[in-house]
Amino acid sequence: MKRVFSGVKPTGHLTLGNYLGAMRRWSAVDQHEADALFCIVDLHALTVDHDPGRVRRLSRQAATLLLAAGLDPKLCTVFAQSHVDEHARLSYLLECVATDGEMRRMIQYKEKAAVERARGGSVRLSLLTYPVLMAADILAYGTDEVPVGDDQAQHVELARDLAVRFNQRYGHTFVVPRATLPKVATRVMNLQEPTSKMGKSDDVGPGIVYLLDEPEVIRKKVMRAVTDSGRDVAYDREARPGVSNLLEILAACGSGNPEALAGVYESYGSLKKDTAEAVVELLRPVQQRHKELCADPAYVEGVLQEGAAKAREMARPRVDAAYRAIGLLPAM
Ligand code: AMP
Ligand code: TRP
Repeated sequence: MKRVFSGVKPTGHLTLGNYLGAMRRWSAVDQHEADALFCIVDLHALTVDHDPGRVRRLSRQAATLLLAAGLDPKLCTVFAQSHVDEHARLSYLLECVATDGEMRRMIQYKEKAAVERARGGSVRLSLLTYPVLMAADILAYGTDEVPVGDDQAQHVELARDLAVRFNQRYGHTFVVPRATLPKVATRVMNLQEPTSKMGKSDDVGPGIVYLLDEPEVIRKKVMRAVTDSGRDVAYDREARPGVSNLLEILAACGSGNPEALAGVYESYGSLKKDTAEAVVELLRPVQQRHKELCADPAYVEGVLQEGAAKAREMARPRVDAAYRAIGLLPAM
């Protein structure tokens, strides 16, 4: 059975982008078809200015939302990255395989480092090495497929390169993984700034639909989405980013495709109305289950503890093998 691994960072409240780009497939497809692991990648949340209490709260909330979105601990493994030492252990070895030039070429690093510098802050070294830790997350488990949104494709590509390089230099140790992207909504855009990704830690709040937004809030955000200067409803991501984003969201909520849906609508208003309702209905069951799970925090805690125990067993032999292959003495 193929192995699937993916993760979500507890750096902000989860968004419609996280759900459509990643989480929904994890529960609808991956956990049924693969031996799948889904990870709250909390170590990654420390790469930018952070508040310890907030990271803890967001980590619990992310775990609860993954279960609310349908991940079933009987079918897959849900755990927190920091509970499994193998991630950090392997990350160091991969730092000895990656180059600093490779790290500096990562688009997300360049963007986030620029934001930090513009704020007058300093850039944490871990922001630069973050993609290596992500590669370790993936490679530790012999992962075949990594279901992610399109913003993570470059990082998965790096994981592939590191796997190939390590295997060539030190002998076959790692499976070479590949990213699997959704067909639609691979990059959900900010409703107020449709040329930027809907990111959970962005400043443009009114353009972000959070999974736990009340229906009224969702409707308001979608109805106020920035559209384009033309009047007809056309699907063209370059020339019509605002309308195209709404068409993609609507398509992803149902089973249509954005081009075909463009032909159905004559006005922006009716497109927005239907998109808002589709999102509200899509998130309704997730929000309902989230409420139920919040009443039972011990259950969520138990899932994470059991998940970590399973994950440790899966990762340990391969990471130990990598330590030996690279030239380190066996520990016993
Ligand atoms: P992150 O929020 O960066 O931890 O992302 C978790 C997962 O959600 C990753 O697979 C991302 O690629 C995906 N994702 C995040 N934001 C979006 C977005 N706006 N559109 C599509 N996928 C997204
Ligand atoms: N970097 C990813 C993001 O920001 C999260 C992540 C960390 C991840 N490790 C991973 C995703 C391993 C897939 C596989 O979205």
